[in-house]
Amino acid sequence: MSFRCQVCGYRSPKWLGRCPQCGEYGTFEEEREAPSQVPPELSREEPPKPLPEVPAPPPERLSTGMPEVDRVLGGLVPGAVVLFGGEPGIGKSTLLLQLAANIADQYGKVLYVSGEEAPSQVKLRAQRLGRESPNLYLLSTQDLLSILNAMARVAPVALVVDSLQTVLANPEGGEVGSLAQVRESAAQLSRVAKTAGIVTFLVSHITKEGGFAGPKTVEHLVDVAVYLEGIREGDLRILRCVKNRYGSTAEVAVLEMTGKGLVEVPNPSLFFVSKEALPRPGTAIVPVLEGTRTLLVEVQALVTPAGGYGPPQRRMAGLDLNRTLVLLAVIEKHLGIHTRALDVYLAVAGGLEVTEPAADLGVCAAILSSLRDRPIPMDTVVLGEVGLAGDLRPVRKGPERLQEVAKLGFRRAIVPHQPLPKKPELEVVRAKTLREGMEALELL
Ligand code: TYD
Ligand code: MG
Repeated sequence: MSFRCQVCGYRSPKWLGRCPQCGEYGTFEEEREAPSQVPPELSREEPPKPLPEVPAPPPERLSTGMPEVDRVLGGLVPGAVVLFGGEPGIGKSTLLLQLAANIADQYGKVLYVSGEEAPSQVKLRAQRLGRESPNLYLLSTQDLLSILNAMARVAPVALVVDSLQTVLANPEGGEVGSLAQVRESAAQLSRVAKTAGIVTFLVSHITKEGGFAGPKTVEHLVDVAVYLEGIREGDLRILRCVKNRYGSTAEVAVLEMTGKGLVEVPNPSLFFVSKEALPRPGTAIVPVLEGTRTLLVEVQALVTPAGGYGPPQRRMAGLDLNRTLVLLAVIEKHLGIHTRALDVYLAVAGGLEVTEPAADLGVCAAILSSLRDRPIPMDTVVLGEVGLAGDLRPVRKGPERLQEVAKLGFRRAIVPHQPLPKKPELEVVRAKTLREGMEALELL
């Protein structure tokens, strides 16, 4: 007999009140071995084969009908198991119904299993999306055996299970949504997906409460794991890949929730820059890379004289605190500005996280722009990594970023000494040091 923490998966031979791994209370549940429920026609064991006799996978990769999503998934091979995580209400069911309909239109039958909604509800959503594909098969059940039977009967090219937390793999193995059930369901579904060559999408909710196994607990069982995230109060969503057996995990897709479901934002470069045309002090625009794609983000700074006795305020949203403390020290040392007397608040507009050092110069420029109360012209972007010696370092994919910047109508770029696009259609100022960069922006 063994017990397992339902939050992090820690295993213990006896029941524990508090999990030594994740620190949660009352999360241990007894784990019983689930009897295998795979129908015989799907579970026949294959003997091991010598490598040359192993059939090569069909070279064709399936498209989801949404190029941006394909870029993140890296193309779907038959039998691939893809985990779609995200908070409740973020749009997972909407997106998967759209993908399911697209796949059904292009390649054949798709089975969409909902454990949360009745088929009529799913139909209603499909109508709303204008996607009533005749090749889309709906099933409402929580029973793994029914899902496996339906797979055998329909023989779909793709399967959607919405959600993994509603599938009951073993009636005696604990509550629906418990770690044991979720793992067993994921394991059995991916086994069948592999034998039958069915592209399988598993939906999983992220929840903060324990007693409910989230997507993290099954990431190791799937080929691709993606998360759908909201990036601000509004309608923008980012699809981000955290694991990919078939491609890179660096890609992201920007999607927008509309009345007709999620639509791709094919050129999201400018989405993270506020629309007002007026230049404001304390704002710098930086071309950052998300995967292979350039996004323009607005770094905002508010710098005021430190009021009280304690240490000055350092607050960040969307930027790394430690990195910014280093930049403040560099500003202090190499520009001779007494930053300890200043409260510094920094934010990235649009709720995006910027971790790239390439944003350093932009962060410094925003800080100085606020301090001097002098705006940076709106047609100017700032790019470069700042070294401890106050030097400016080249950034990855500089030419690509500047090309994108020029395409979007920016006229001027402050950059380190580094390769440039062949015909830069903008004025490029190359600075060797932080000081030169700030001088070019007239911020000293
Ligand atoms: P849903 O896909 O049900 O989220 P999840 O499966 O991740 O829990 O989406 C929920 C929200 O999306 C809901 O508030 C309604 C909204 N929505 C739209 O804005 N447009 C649409 O076309 C659809 C189908 C849903
Ligand atoms: Mg849903």
